Amino acid sequence: MLKVNDNFTKLPSSYLFSEIARRVDTFAASHSGEKIIRMGIGDVTRPLCSEAIREMEEAVRHEADAATFRGYGPEQGHLFLREKIVAYDYAARGIDILPDEVFVSDGAKSDTGNIGDIISANCKVAVTDPVYPVYVDTNVMAGRAGEFDSSTGKWSDIEYLSCNDSNSFIPSLPKNHPDIIYLCYPNNPTGTTLTRNQLKEWVDYARANGAVILFDSAYEAYISESDVPHSIYEIEGAKEVAIEFRSFSKTAGFTGVRCGYTVVPHDLKGIDSSGKIVEVNSLWNRRQTTKFNGASYISQRAAEALYSPEGQKQVKETIAYYMTNAAMLRDGLAQAGIECRGGINAPYIWLKTPGGLSSWDFFDIMLKKCHLVGTPGVGFGPSGEGYFRLTAFSSHEATLEAVRRIERLSEL
Ligand code: MLT
Repeated sequence: MLKVNDNFTKLPSSYLFSEIARRVDTFAASHSGEKIIRMGIGDVTRPLCSEAIREMEEAVRHEADAATFRGYGPEQGHLFLREKIVAYDYAARGIDILPDEVFVSDGAKSDTGNIGDIISANCKVAVTDPVYPVYVDTNVMAGRAGEFDSSTGKWSDIEYLSCNDSNSFIPSLPKNHPDIIYLCYPNNPTGTTLTRNQLKEWVDYARANGAVILFDSAYEAYISESDVPHSIYEIEGAKEVAIEFRSFSKTAGFTGVRCGYTVVPHDLKGIDSSGKIVEVNSLWNRRQTTKFNGASYISQRAAEALYSPEGQKQVKETIAYYMTNAAMLRDGLAQAGIECRGGINAPYIWLKTPGGLSSWDFFDIMLKKCHLVGTPGVGFGPSGEGYFRLTAFSSHEATLEAVRRIERLSEL
């Protein structure tokens, strides 16, 4: 019989968003009437912008003609896209990144999960808490998490950097000398941010302590405040200590198209067990060329189109649309007397459950009373208990209706 990877058997039986979908489907099967509004998983609803569609159609025509047909592309991504990323996402912000430091992929979820392949099984990991579950679950799969303690909701070998109202959601620097620190800013799930000075403390810490920051900036396009960095490489010295993950999913509605990228600077060095210094970029390149055949040509052409002047304009319009929803949700919650964070530099609203309800009890009330789905904060980690996440990715109409239904909670 197949000897399985024991680490998988330690995981909760289902991934957070699959569990929510299961509960909602069970509820929907036995209730009719008012339509359920889904603000749980951060999936977008606006169609792709016309620039991306036009470029995708053109790419399909290339594939239909032997003279322009493209088969396998470079595993690292087509140069036409990597050069645009370098120019618009980095050089335009005064950051010097080379095309061969950019690895195009099918999204940040895959890359933040797969990056563990090139990290020693002995590395100690720190995460902010609450946290995007992929970071923790993939470390469990790799055997770096230790054992789960159900009384604390924590894995024994992971350092949890708590973020809550008492520290204004600004995590303290680690105490246990982790080798790897996952940071996601603007933050999923809380929608909070770090200022440039606050992020600098992390880069300085990593440089002084030999740690590496895995920086997920999938939501950078939602930043509206000038003091919030879009890239960790805006901070001096970050190229020596950070890998950055980006995605077109939330920026341009590519959750179904699939395209993202990861930046692994040449300045970032690692050490093997014999003490030899290695370039992390070469290891990631080796990993990708072996296990990945590149994002699809059609997706990459669509992503390239987002950098045209018209593409940039259309992307900004979609983001403004979602951020109008975020403002509606913030106002609606305030009207209902519910405290919340986020929704200013991120499409997520992180609210404190009223009446001290647990996250899952509030989830049930929202579903039954308001036919509204969100994500229980505790699903993102123990410090998420007593919180709840709503996304701003619905239509204006659905968001307005959600706000109306939230008024029902004033009796709680
Ligand atoms: C979320 O809801 O947190 C995101 O949609 C998850 C993801 O991007 O994979």
